[in-house]
Amino acid sequence: MSSDKGADRPAGPALQCDRVVAGYGDAPVVREVSLTAAPGRVLCVVGPNGAGKSTLLRALLGLVRVRQGTVTLGGKDVTNKPLEELARSGIGYVPQGEDVFDTLRVTENLDMGGFILSRAERQARMDAVLDIFPALRRLTRRYAGTLSGGERKMVALARVLMSDPDVLLLDEPTAGLAAELTRMVLEEQVRLLAGLGKAVLLVEQKAEAALSVADDAAVLVNGQIALTGTGAEVLANEDVGEIFLGGAGRGKGWMQSMWAGSAGSAGTDGTVHSTGIA
Ligand SMILES: Nc1ncnc2c1ncn2[C@@H]1O[C@H](COP(=O)(O)OP(=O)(O)O)[C@@H](O)[C@H]1O
Ligand SMILES: [Mg+2]
Repeated sequence: MSSDKGADRPAGPALQCDRVVAGYGDAPVVREVSLTAAPGRVLCVVGPNGAGKSTLLRALLGLVRVRQGTVTLGGKDVTNKPLEELARSGIGYVPQGEDVFDTLRVTENLDMGGFILSRAERQARMDAVLDIFPALRRLTRRYAGTLSGGERKMVALARVLMSDPDVLLLDEPTAGLAAELTRMVLEEQVRLLAGLGKAVLLVEQKAEAALSVADDAAVLVNGQIALTGTGAEVLANEDVGEIFLGGAGRGKGWMQSMWAGSAGSAGTDGTVHSTGIA
């Protein structure tokens, strides 16, 4: 495995999927999806609730069976390989929702992310990860349950970095976070990972915020890619509102409505401003 050496780091492998079909029952949820997550770039897949974003990530991870199409890592076929094998091959995954262990200390949470490493490697790797997220250093003894929303996300990202993945799959890392923290997680934490040379595949419902930090972007609707482009192109595309909201969007108004959808959690995370990480 490679390490976080910065600019002189050789480019890692790209994760690609080609016409992937996957789902749970008879009707496929993900339909003929083709994407490339390239090293050093953030690929953002936005789409409404239920579009199939989480299922797509699970299919790439071998957690939901791919029925048609292929998934390749650095050109090597990894379709339907077990999660542990994918982890050893350099793919890291941060699932949606509760992703840290509240009753464990930060260091213990990180240790769990290094399960494929030897004890000595784990210690060295933890130092490297704490260099990537220096704000975590003064929190290492804290129980994760006592941390703010933004700090918990940092722990979740740091935990997956323990295995030094080349490719990161992030499922709605801003879920439940207020607007300001959402921007902080995306602009600082997610961009940082791409800056380390990792290929980042981010799926998000918060379209405007996520597209703003994306190099490459795709809009997923009903399990199909409706539109692709650079993050800026998709953000600027007047049709996206219509696509996204099934005709209910009106020009730029859809962006505001996506923000309005996330505003319900604004103000619930009052501890953040005193932590110094925002
Ligand atoms: N474990 C499951 N079993 C059956 N259907 C599921 C399961 N998980 C998700 N689905 C269905 O798959 C569709 C896409 O869900 P999901 O991938 O979670 O969408 P998103 O992440 O974009 O909100 C939805 O219709 C959802 O009800
Ligand atoms: Mg989801």
